[in-house]
Amino acid sequence: MCGIIGYIGNKEASKILISGLEKLEYRGYDSAGLAVIDNKENKTSEINRNNNGNKTNNGNKTNNNNNNTLHIFKSKGRVSRLYSAILPGKIGIGHTRWATHGLPADKNSHPFLDEKKEFAVVHNGIIENYLELKEELREQGVQFSSETDSEVIVHLLAKHYSGDVKDAVLKTIRRLKGAYAFCVLKNNSEEIIGARNGSPLVIGLGNNENFFASDVSALVEHTKNVVYLNDFELSRIRHKDVEIFDFNGKKKELKIKKIDWDLEQAQKSGYKHFMLKEIFEQPQVIAESLKLELEIKKIPFLMPKKAEEFENKSLQKIILVACGTASYAGLVGKYLIEKIARIPVINETASEFRYKDPLVSKDDIVIAISQSGETADTLAAIRLAKQRGAKTLGFINVIDSTIAREVDHVIYTRAGLEIGVASTKAFTSQLVCLYLLAFQLAGKKMNSSSLIEKIKETLSLNKEIKELSEQYFNYSNFLYIGRNMNFPLALEGALKLKEISYIHAEAYPAGELKHGPIALVSEETPTLALCPQDEVYDKTLSNIEEIKARKGKVIALATQGDEKIKQVADNIIFIPKTDPIFYPLLSAIPLQLFAYHLADRKECDIDKPRNLAKSVTVE
Ligand code: M6R
Repeated sequence: MCGIIGYIGNKEASKILISGLEKLEYRGYDSAGLAVIDNKENKTSEINRNNNGNKTNNGNKTNNNNNNTLHIFKSKGRVSRLYSAILPGKIGIGHTRWATHGLPADKNSHPFLDEKKEFAVVHNGIIENYLELKEELREQGVQFSSETDSEVIVHLLAKHYSGDVKDAVLKTIRRLKGAYAFCVLKNNSEEIIGARNGSPLVIGLGNNENFFASDVSALVEHTKNVVYLNDFELSRIRHKDVEIFDFNGKKKELKIKKIDWDLEQAQKSGYKHFMLKEIFEQPQVIAESLKLELEIKKIPFLMPKKAEEFENKSLQKIILVACGTASYAGLVGKYLIEKIARIPVINETASEFRYKDPLVSKDDIVIAISQSGETADTLAAIRLAKQRGAKTLGFINVIDSTIAREVDHVIYTRAGLEIGVASTKAFTSQLVCLYLLAFQLAGKKMNSSSLIEKIKETLSLNKEIKELSEQYFNYSNFLYIGRNMNFPLALEGALKLKEISYIHAEAYPAGELKHGPIALVSEETPTLALCPQDEVYDKTLSNIEEIKARKGKVIALATQGDEKIKQVADNIIFIPKTDPIFYPLLSAIPLQLFAYHLADRKECDIDKPRNLAKSVTVE
């Protein structure tokens, strides 16, 4: 979480930094800030924007040196608060924050300055030993201006500086525990230093200009040539020069990669929100993901003959690791692989995985599912699996992301750029990969012939679901139920509703209701029941009856032509009839649209819901 950026070149840095931060805003939007140096005066100016948006100039403070001025502007709130920051200078760093330590507030916004205001630092990650470092620095007389963990970095830098910023960074990182990517700017210098351990950092290589950013979306309008920093690496960028070092200060080779997408993908193209655009992109995305069949066939350790090895116990199990929506895709994957390929699968919540001393060995295949490829918990799960000798595979959307680079084999899910914080098309592309995997493991061919047409047909429910939202946007609580492989969809539907509309929703396997949650059923708590015509249809129908008998309202997601459901449900969303195995893919769409329209009706900030960030790079 948090997005960081750095620029050195001949253009106005503020503009480039602000535009880059806007691309990174999906990573957090609690506060934003910039530090820029120019070489005209010998002052440091610091401006905070107070909560009313008024400038509170903290005064111009004269430096001891005679050259470059370090200008700071930071504010609680969105990156747009920086528009009024006209900071002169061609070298700068910037930050957009997702709060971990300390409330969203001006004083907790980055960049942070040391006491002499010579260094500015922006940080993404968590410094786990910050309390002891803070205590130690305080004993030496250092005054802190924020409640954050990040501020210790800048004071350590000032303490360790003796003429070379890179050396000060190397000494500083020896004191830090935790995860970080940070950028350092020093006045009177013509360089920016960036360091990485656990949080992403990319270098953009331009023509007489160079960049740092948390991800390539902030760089793509300036350059297509990038270098991904690895953990335990730092880089010094100057106008014409980029160098990489390990944490012992030893110089390393630059491995330049080309980005093969452009900014067009980052436009709303007439849709009100990115989320809606991304929901409507699903027919193309699913068609693209279906083309992965051949690639999945070629995964070296998943050839069909290997499926027999599972039976022979020489390959013991498949473990899926993921968080949030990706982990619900994983749960669908478990049902699919066990049903179609008869191979045991464990679906693990990545944030729990490494703390439970998991049973994972060299015989296992561990599969990470992640849109961003940067989720800290999923990455840590993969690293643990590798340590224990397991084979690792990634179903990842973002190309060259950290997990994609670390797994033994990566399949890119082909969802394209997903900007809405609520995952939609990335989820369905993950599902497609898991379907293909299940069929591959079974040594069978998947018949998806009319699937795309059915996805399109399901999208045409949009208007009807929008109308339905009028009836339901005022409720405060929802239950979601489903059975078998539609149960994970109930979880996903409830998550979508919670994260973008802030309506409380809980999901259960339909048969579990009577073991407790049915106590919640009342006229005030509607239930969204996934009840397609599959092998457990009659069972789910009975559960709906139980809800109706307790005066609960029911919105059913049912199959076109189902007459029985009309007698029990209050509202019905009919999805096209298909092979029951594909209902999860079809059901995903109305669930996304239902959450979207309720949130829109409530005028929520759909693409940037409160408290969330798209990419969760902290534990
Ligand atoms: O980038 P990842 O797929 O690894 O992200 C995992 C979760 O953080 C993510 O799916 C999250 O739950 C979304 N906000 C759901 O819409």
